[in-house]
Amino acid sequence: MDTIQAIQKRQGVLAYRPDPVPRELVEIVLRAACAAPSPANTQPWEWIAVHDPELVSMLVSHLIKTQEKGVFRTMLDTPPEFTGDLMKLYRDLEKAPWWIVLCRHRRAQLGPPELNSLIRDWELCSLGAAMGILMTAAVSLGLGSRWFGNPMLDPSPIEDLLGIPEGLEIIAASPLGYHDQPQKKRPKQDPDVHHKFSRGDKYALASLLQGRLPWEEVTHFNYYGQS
Ligand SMILES: Cc1cc2nc3c(=O)[nH]c(=O)nc-3n(C[C@H](O)[C@H](O)[C@H](O)COP(=O)(O)O)c2cc1C
Repeated sequence: MDTIQAIQKRQGVLAYRPDPVPRELVEIVLRAACAAPSPANTQPWEWIAVHDPELVSMLVSHLIKTQEKGVFRTMLDTPPEFTGDLMKLYRDLEKAPWWIVLCRHRRAQLGPPELNSLIRDWELCSLGAAMGILMTAAVSLGLGSRWFGNPMLDPSPIEDLLGIPEGLEIIAASPLGYHDQPQKKRPKQDPDVHHKFSRGDKYALASLLQGRLPWEEVTHFNYYGQS
C-alpha cells in the first residue's frame, strides 16, 4: 500500500478483534511516529504502549466513562437516549490488544515564560503530526486506530494507573489492533452541517460525525477564495 492510499484509508476504528498484534509491529509504528517534525527539534513526545490486559481493561473503562460523561454529556450535551446508542459503539474497545498513550514532555524551555502558551500550541501541533504518522503507519500494516482526546478531560486516573511522572501531560490515547467492522466509504459532507451544529441536537451531531468536506471547499490557490 502506498502512503497516499494509507492516508486516505485511515478511519477512526471503535470495534476490534481480540487477535494478537506482535510487539514488532507496534515498535514499527512508534518509530515512524518519532520521525515527526517538532519546534526546534524538541521532540515533545513520550509514548506508553499498554499491552497488559488488566491495565488495558482499566484504561478502557476509564476512557468509556470519560467519553460518556465528559464528551457526550458535558461537552456535546447529547440527549441521554442518543448517548446510550452511541456508547454501544464503544463496547468492543477493550478487545484491542494494544493501547498507545501519548504524553507531552517539555524537553527545553524554548522561549521566555510569557510565550509558554504559544510554545505549548506548537508542541501540540507537533504531537498531532506524530499521531497522524502513527495512525497512517498503522493502516499500512493492516491495523486500526482511533484518536481519543478525552483523557485530557480527566487525566489523573490514567497517570496513576500507568505511573506517569509529574511534568508529563497526557494528550491522546489510541487503540491499536485489527478492526472488526467493515470500512464505510466516506460521503461528501455539506458545509452547512458545521454552521448549523448546535450542542444537544442529536441530528446535528449525527450529521457532523459523517463524511468529509469536499476538499475544494477548504483549499485555495494563490488567494483565499480562489480555485
Ligand atoms: C484531537 C482529537 C480528539 C478526539 N477525541 C475523541 C474522543 O475523545 N472520543 C472519540 O470517540 N473520538 C475522538 N476523536 C476522533 C474523532 O471523532 C474522529 O477522528 C472524527 O470523527 C473523524 O472520523 P475519522 O477519524 O474516522 O476520520 C478525536 C479526534 C481528534 C483529532
